[in-house]
Amino acid sequence: MMSLALWLVTGCVSESMKSVSDRVFQRAAEQFVLMDSNLAEGEFPRSLDTLGNLVTSDSKWWCCGFFPGSLWYTYEYTGDERIKALAEKYTRSIKVADLLYDHDLGFEVWCSYGNAFRLTGDQTYKPQIEEAAALLATRYSPVVKAIRSWNNPHKGFRVIIDNMMNLELLEEASKMFACDSLDRIAQDHANTTMANHFREDYTTWHLVNYVDADGSVRRKHTVQGYSDDSAWARGQAWALYGYTMMYRETGRREYLQQALNVGDMILCHLPEDGVAYWDFDDPKIPDTYRDASAAAVMASAYVELCGYAEGRQCKEYKAVAEKILRTLASDEYLCATGECHGFLLKHSVGSIPHGNEVDVPLTYADYYFLEALIRYNNL
Ligand code: GLY
Repeated sequence: MMSLALWLVTGCVSESMKSVSDRVFQRAAEQFVLMDSNLAEGEFPRSLDTLGNLVTSDSKWWCCGFFPGSLWYTYEYTGDERIKALAEKYTRSIKVADLLYDHDLGFEVWCSYGNAFRLTGDQTYKPQIEEAAALLATRYSPVVKAIRSWNNPHKGFRVIIDNMMNLELLEEASKMFACDSLDRIAQDHANTTMANHFREDYTTWHLVNYVDADGSVRRKHTVQGYSDDSAWARGQAWALYGYTMMYRETGRREYLQQALNVGDMILCHLPEDGVAYWDFDDPKIPDTYRDASAAAVMASAYVELCGYAEGRQCKEYKAVAEKILRTLASDEYLCATGECHGFLLKHSVGSIPHGNEVDVPLTYADYYFLEALIRYNNL
């Protein structure tokens, strides 16, 4: 057997994935206790500013569900009751009544209350899930056959690829509360998005703007990507995750095929270490930013998709997920204990075109990273 000393010198035996997970979840528990100590009542973590100060949000920000969700995953893995108490506290401070005009109810409520119910079976978490799903359904247009993203009706009926992620709330609530219409709305949205958001090479536009009155497409463009015709990395990640999840929820083969096509497309655009550049078409690659959040979402989706794929695809998806997870768990990306004000991962981007949240920690990177590790361990 190789000695530890030889291992350290040669570096030729890689750390097992179990050991990577143990290390990351121990770090997550330490970091999240620190984060909690940095937050006043009603505050949630959001990011760091350009000076490295903690930026917080209230429970109305689209990301409020990710910190409680990360706490739930950390509790799931470690069994640490202290973390469970924090998860309960942050989950219950999200109220659907505060989210009346929001389209991100899946992120906000499914990542928090959904995980809470999944792990505890506590029935008192269910009313918020039911309320959130019903509220999200009010944004559905039977003419466009999709759920509206941003509100302003004077700017058209705008749908971003990100909204595929909110369909999990509808699908789960449809089963939980025996409400078929939620499933029909989710499938309509997924079908409309499949018809209009994707290019021939399976990259996706960020935003499709529809005409309210007849559902025709007015314009396709970007908001957070490099250009209207580019492939914004997180958008590709939302698409991969969204169609993989919709296959799990519905069993429809066309969703699986879409996920596989997007999965193969993304593989062609990833750098050696697996962590995507923020936009696949930024001409400054490799001298531009990575997006750890996109990488984490991709890793989680690839692990799940490997479970539905066969042969070559399953092998490649598992391998790339492992590569991403190992890179994110390295010192380059993982915050040291006590660093980053209690976030877990560095080097994500919110929106480069807006100069907003560039090369910083983001709560959703932490959330999907932990989810991916749990999924990987359950493979
Ligand atoms: N849903 C917003 C984003 O991905 O930045």
